[in-house]
Amino acid sequence: MQTLPQRQLGPTGRMVSAIGLGAMPMSLAGRPPESQSIAVIRRALELGVTLIDTADVYCLDDSDIGHNERLIARALAEAGQSAKGVVVATKGGLRRPRGEWVVDARPERLREACERSLKALGVERIALYQLHAVDPRVPIEESVGELARLREEGKIEAIGLSNVNAQEIDRAMRVAPIVSVQNRFHVRDRRFAIGNGALRRCEELGLAFLAYAPVGGTHGRRLISEDPALRAVAQKHGATPEEVALAWLLRQSPCVVPIPGASRLSSIESSVRSLSLVLDAEDLARIG
Ligand SMILES: NC(=O)c1ccc[n+]([C@@H]2O[C@H](COP(=O)([O-])OP(=O)(O)OC[C@H]3O[C@@H](n4cnc5c(N)ncnc54)[C@H](OP(=O)(O)O)[C@@H]3O)[C@@H](O)[C@H]2O)c1
Repeated sequence: MQTLPQRQLGPTGRMVSAIGLGAMPMSLAGRPPESQSIAVIRRALELGVTLIDTADVYCLDDSDIGHNERLIARALAEAGQSAKGVVVATKGGLRRPRGEWVVDARPERLREACERSLKALGVERIALYQLHAVDPRVPIEESVGELARLREEGKIEAIGLSNVNAQEIDRAMRVAPIVSVQNRFHVRDRRFAIGNGALRRCEELGLAFLAYAPVGGTHGRRLISEDPALRAVAQKHGATPEEVALAWLLRQSPCVVPIPGASRLSSIESSVRSLSLVLDAEDLARIG
């Protein structure tokens, strides 16, 4: 296993690879055969990726909860020693009735979800447990308060947040130590990193910022792949627009860790390559 550039997982001081693997596309509708997903996870480990992002709700619907976590557990078990030290970051706080995405971050539901995730992942303690989203019916203090109790009980090692703004980060931090924030962030959508102050707050507090949908997300791929400026910079470097988009994210702050999704080997291989792509001032000006 090679050593990739590292980033700090918040104040824990724990280090993870500067690019993580987003495992979501392996479990939603249209998902690839299980053998392919396992091969992608194993390839990521071989390439030195030490952060895998998942969630209980990366599945088809409520009857399939934990699909992605079980898949990762199987891949890591097959990988044996080379999976040692890998941080699997999961989440709770959503449900999938009839395949829809519904927020439910009531404390009792988070506890149930966490206990189910422990089983699905086959671990005694979850390395990073993230509140998937703030439930408008539940003050963030109550949701995070339950995560703090789960941490005190030893079921969670570290707590993260997702889909939050700067004020919500501050409110959560008053209840429990937080190590990471996971929000949508790509070069053509900066609203939930820069626009809402979340990235700045992460920098001030020393938290990791996990950038999701870093190459445009499931529905925004063309925003990146067909972007003229990204294509021009990519051509100059003999790279792809996706690699330029990831390299741009990595330049934004030492706390940014893009977590590109992958269900094909070529996607994770390309994403890891972006770590050696250095953009110069001219490239950054062109990208805008
Ligand atoms: N916290 C949240 O609310 C939230 C929401 C959405 C996503 N996430 C997390 O963030 C991760 C990433 O988001 P995402 O999967 O929606 O979008 P994404 O990372 O922008 O990727 C979308 C698709 O782009 C392709 N791709 C990725 N890297 C590539 C590369 N270097 N070159 C060419 N194609 C590439 C992959 O296709 P193939 O599948 O064909 O390989 C992937 O499925 C998810 O997997 C999930 O773990 C979190």
